[in-house]
Amino acid sequence: MDDELNALRRTRMRWNTPLSEPHAELLLDRMALDGGHLVDLGCGWGELLLRALARAPGLRGTGVDTDETGLARGRAAAASRGLAVEFRQADAAGWDVPAERAFCVGSAHVFGSTKAALERLARVVPSGRLLYGDGFWAAPPGPAAREIFGPDLLTLPDLLDAADGAGWRVLHLSTADQLEWDDFESTSRAGWAEWLTAHPADPRAPGVREWLDRRLREYVREYRGVLGFTYLVLGR
Ligand SMILES: C[S@@+](CC[C@H](N)C(=O)[O-])C[C@H]1O[C@@H](n2cnc3c(N)ncnc32)[C@H](O)[C@@H]1O
Repeated sequence: MDDELNALRRTRMRWNTPLSEPHAELLLDRMALDGGHLVDLGCGWGELLLRALARAPGLRGTGVDTDETGLARGRAAAASRGLAVEFRQADAAGWDVPAERAFCVGSAHVFGSTKAALERLARVVPSGRLLYGDGFWAAPPGPAAREIFGPDLLTLPDLLDAADGAGWRVLHLSTADQLEWDDFESTSRAGWAEWLTAHPADPRAPGVREWLDRRLREYVREYRGVLGFTYLVLGR
């Protein structure tokens, strides 16, 4: 897809994770953000990072991602809200600047696996708190779901064991509910779905329609209620 459609794709999403506004506020409360350095690894456009900075003026923030489209959106949002934050285009897997607080939400794959992410993040936060968001199998997956999400996804008990093994203590645990999931999936499709409605005869329309139909079909048939997503506030 071209730059115009790429830029449009996620415009209806508040953030790139199944998360309601009240749930986000709860997680930020549990992170006890009262100063120091907060790094968001795999930040996307860093909306949660910006919310954290808005509520904790003493906090210094850095967002790290490889996707320049997301980073540019984050920089524009920060400027419009008068928030000082650094958005860095870099590979989060190699990030080794210690911080008192970190976010890693939907980005464990950057480190290779859940276990590798939790171990690496323990080096980034030698003492402090981590907001860790990751997928897990909420119900036994069928072959198609396993094919889409790969062989490494854990169950929630196994994910908690991995956190424990990496030296983290669970301070908070919650999971995305069905409305958060449905809203996430719907908003992830909405940018292109609205474009398609307005441009049915565009030469790019068949490709966009195929992507939208496949994504909705996979969600409803293969992983709705099967793929879970947990938010852990971890301390060490
Ligand atoms: C599911 S999104 C989560 C974004 C964000 N944490 C949020 O909640 O909105 C995963 C992010 O990981 C980023 N990513 C992928 N590989 C990366 C890498 N090697 N280093 C940094 N970010 C990476 C993608 O560009 C994407 O923005």
